[in-house]
Amino acid sequence: MRSLLPALPLRLRLAPLFLAATLWTPAQATTPADLQRGYEARADAPGQAERGQAFFTRSHGGEWSCASCHGERPTGAGRHAVTGKALDPLAPAFNPRAFTDERRVEKWLRRNCQDVARRECTPAEKADVLAWLQTLR
Ligand code: HEC
Repeated sequence: MRSLLPALPLRLRLAPLFLAATLWTPAQATTPADLQRGYEARADAPGQAERGQAFFTRSHGGEWSCASCHGERPTGAGRHAVTGKALDPLAPAFNPRAFTDERRVEKWLRRNCQDVARRECTPAEKADVLAWLQTLR
């Protein structure tokens, strides 16, 4: 039997693609708590704030730690280790925009984890760091 699909006008066959593109393009709004739940689900373990603080403040074989740019306690502005550019606080209680755009968060984590650990961070490490950042008041 012939498939039904090629019989549809091209416009209709492409419609789902356009719809998907439209849904995908805008910033992916989220919350720190939702992001953390997602990382915890992938890690299959709850985030641990203490481990997150340790991960954030120590170096991982390279020159930098997360704290090199974001500060030991990222409740205030950070300072880029190379460019000196001021960075917004990472702790959500001090920056309402932090961890509210999933694509932005993932983009920076990919880049920052490569710089610090020369690999991507694992979902467990992200859950730990986010758990710690959310304890900062
Ligand atoms: C070499 C400097 C540098 C280092 C080291 C660094 N970051 Fe960043 N990070 C940045 C810059 C720059 C931004 C963009 C921030 C801005 O525009 O204010 C950023 C943004 C982020 C964001 C996005 C926050 C948001 O929601 O907007 C997260 C999450 C983050 N960093 C986590 C980390 C973690 C975790 C580490 C350690 C693995 C780390 N960073 C190490 C420079 C750095």
